[in-house]
Amino acid sequence: MMEDRKIFWSGRYDWKYGEKGVMIGNKEYEFQEMFPEIYFLSCQGYKMDDLVEKLPDVNKDKAREVIRFLLDIGALTDNVQSPEALFERQYAIYPNRDSYPEDMLMRNDLIAEFRTSALNRRLPTDADKLISLQRSERSVRVRRSTRSFDTDKTISFRCFSELLDSMRQDSSEGEIVYSYPSAGGLYPVDIYIFVKNGRVEGVDGGIYEYIPSSHSLRLVNSGEVPARSHFFGNKEIFRTSAFSMYFFYNTDASMPKYHGIGYYYGIVDSGIMLGRLTDKAEELQLGSCIIGVFDMKKAAANFSTDSGQVYLHCMEFGVPKE
Ligand SMILES: Cc1cc2nc3c(=O)[nH]c(=O)nc-3n(C[C@H](O)[C@H](O)[C@H](O)COP(=O)(O)O)c2cc1C
Repeated sequence: MMEDRKIFWSGRYDWKYGEKGVMIGNKEYEFQEMFPEIYFLSCQGYKMDDLVEKLPDVNKDKAREVIRFLLDIGALTDNVQSPEALFERQYAIYPNRDSYPEDMLMRNDLIAEFRTSALNRRLPTDADKLISLQRSERSVRVRRSTRSFDTDKTISFRCFSELLDSMRQDSSEGEIVYSYPSAGGLYPVDIYIFVKNGRVEGVDGGIYEYIPSSHSLRLVNSGEVPARSHFFGNKEIFRTSAFSMYFFYNTDASMPKYHGIGYYYGIVDSGIMLGRLTDKAEELQLGSCIIGVFDMKKAAANFSTDSGQVYLHCMEFGVPKE
């Protein structure tokens, strides 16, 4: 944490008094004497010294220690939160939560059934109100996500450059332009790329930042993204891919203009980028797969991102295995 930043109650967890201490989320801790004051104060936001000063009747060193701990577990925050932390509480509020098992993500048996019913929601019953539309010649069956890549294939520099060309900056009549839209033309999503050794012609293994203004890569770290950052179901995709892209919302590139909703626009922008890259990869006969679950905490040190960059998601690329 940075000492000069204001510390806030994050909203990720609820708190209440437990049998012996204070419950934060579903865990119980022994520093109940700091509640409810720390909660009310941190809803306003105070710097560490001011927060400690304002807490009545507690040992200052202990207060600092507890505040650091609460920052560590994410009950307090001194920065814009990750999407996981930001959205987690929405499930507690979701009115139909009790109709589904908590471990749904792990229940392949239930997921198949759930997906079928979710994809058939709103099946039309009132035929007299329907207009059937024309279908395009191009089948939607052509594109599929790729989850196993050919580890013997190297991607040509030309193909790699062309994929990234869809993300580059250009100028037109004195204006900076991109091939895809972004809220306010701010383009606040930063792209990092991990290239595996020997898998992209002319690009050494390592982690790079993509610079859209010069359409170039800047080496950040010659190390690797650790496989342990991936959810077990995605490990094979990551093991075989030739390169991976990581998308970070840069708070400093849009929040000054749009405030909090800039974060949401950044997420929308990144979805547009993922869509554009999916289509471009298909055009170049590359396989791709967007990855939702990824533990950036286990990989962050290798990216050297700054505290204004919030990790959103990643995407794997390679030549599909025959
Ligand atoms: C936001 C998002 C997150 C995704 N996360 C994963 C993932 O973690 N693992 C995976 O194998 N596929 C992931 N996918 C790919 C979807 O599972 C896939 O698009 C979907 O099953 C439809 O299949 P198709 O792309 O082959 O048509 C993700 C896609 C999106 C858009």
